[in-house]
Amino acid sequence: MAAQREKALWSGRFTTAPDVMMKKFGESISVDWAFYREDIEGSIAHGKMLHRIGILSREEMEKILRGLEEIKEEIESGEFVPNIELEDVHMNIENRLIKKLGELGAKIHTGRSRNDQVVTDYRLYLKKEIGKIMDLLKTCMDVFLKRAEEDIDIIIPGFTHLMHAQPVSLGHYWMAYFWKFQRDLKRLSAALEGADVSPLGAGALAGSTLPLDREYTRELLGFREVSKNSLDTVSDRDFILDLQYALSTFFIHTSRLSEDLILWNTQEFNYIQLPDEFCTGSSMMPNKKNPDALELIRGKTGGVVTGLFNLMMNLKGLPLTYNRDLQEDKKFVLENIATTKIVLEILPQLILKIQVQKENIQKHLSKGFLLATDVAEYLVLKGVPFRKTHEIVAGIVQYAEGKGLDFQDLSMEEWKGFSPHFEQDIVEILTPQKAVARRRTLGGTGKEPVLEQIKEGREVIK
Ligand code: ARG
Repeated sequence: MAAQREKALWSGRFTTAPDVMMKKFGESISVDWAFYREDIEGSIAHGKMLHRIGILSREEMEKILRGLEEIKEEIESGEFVPNIELEDVHMNIENRLIKKLGELGAKIHTGRSRNDQVVTDYRLYLKKEIGKIMDLLKTCMDVFLKRAEEDIDIIIPGFTHLMHAQPVSLGHYWMAYFWKFQRDLKRLSAALEGADVSPLGAGALAGSTLPLDREYTRELLGFREVSKNSLDTVSDRDFILDLQYALSTFFIHTSRLSEDLILWNTQEFNYIQLPDEFCTGSSMMPNKKNPDALELIRGKTGGVVTGLFNLMMNLKGLPLTYNRDLQEDKKFVLENIATTKIVLEILPQLILKIQVQKENIQKHLSKGFLLATDVAEYLVLKGVPFRKTHEIVAGIVQYAEGKGLDFQDLSMEEWKGFSPHFEQDIVEILTPQKAVARRRTLGGTGKEPVLEQIKEGREVIK
């Protein structure tokens, strides 16, 4: 970044230039340069509008537009590097235009403030980025559908309190994340809608004495609507909170998923083998293959959620309208967007390459009396009140556990000893396969309801 001496565009009112430290402290160019395209796009629309309302002649407008296009090329070729002396993206580009066009360049900021300009840039930028994230998320969700289809017949212990609870289909497990992501997608879509409002024309805070055509710039920039209140417009950062919340929930979801997969990959569980591509080794212990990608997802979640709280804390005590505090609204968001995109590139590949250790999972299924609820519900169908069946089965579990037996090991006499309602058919339902197959409730883990989910899921991401 260049740092040759430049006078700020607002310097006229001052007798002394800002302290060097103030310039370092006050700059935002190191962050908001990411918005240079949108800043130019906004200026082009603003320039066209100024011509339409008679402030710029056609010739003046054309020169300005050409100048702005050239600046964009100069940025992209590396010829024009921003200068920290000029604080932010807005003043760097405006200053460049003035250098190129002299007096004429000085007309572009007519009826505009950096306060409406910065949110115009920001909203344009977020619309593009949210779109990209939504596309990546859909691709990721598609992978979960594929895995669900592939693993629908694999049965794993389902957990509550991290204790064996009831058997479930692994396909059902993947679909659980599909639906979490589907809600994230909805939240992103709401954030996209929230960002889709044109601030240009709100000015510094109160609008303008000039007859600005806000509807025209809205149309040129492709925003859905014009903001309603200039004071609200320059002080509102809800549209960023919406995105931060959507990203935070997505990360909380992937973090929980990571935790399960990290556990499942341990020697103790050994339900899955993670792909080498997304693991790393130890510099000392030759035996190690660590689940780093998943740990990093879990670890980065804190940072992403911090971004949400950072902005909330920034906003909570701010008087209307613009305050410089608001300049701090970008860093975390840009970082979080980048983090989300890389996670969304890695996660689907990792999920696709997971190897399920079927035989080993099978061994775990006999632990923890996973079929206890099935036994209780068997008695319900024989007319025994559920509370009573619960007690009976708890007694059987206690008895069997004491003897080191499983349900399958009990003799018919032993069953009858606990309830006369037990018949030979009790033995038939006592397999994890049966237990899963018999759970046909809507949204349950049986094959038909899972296939139904997959079908519905396909519609969602179409
Ligand atoms: N760099 C500033 C920001 O990001 C632009 C708006 C500055 N406005 C002002 N009145 N100082 O918020």
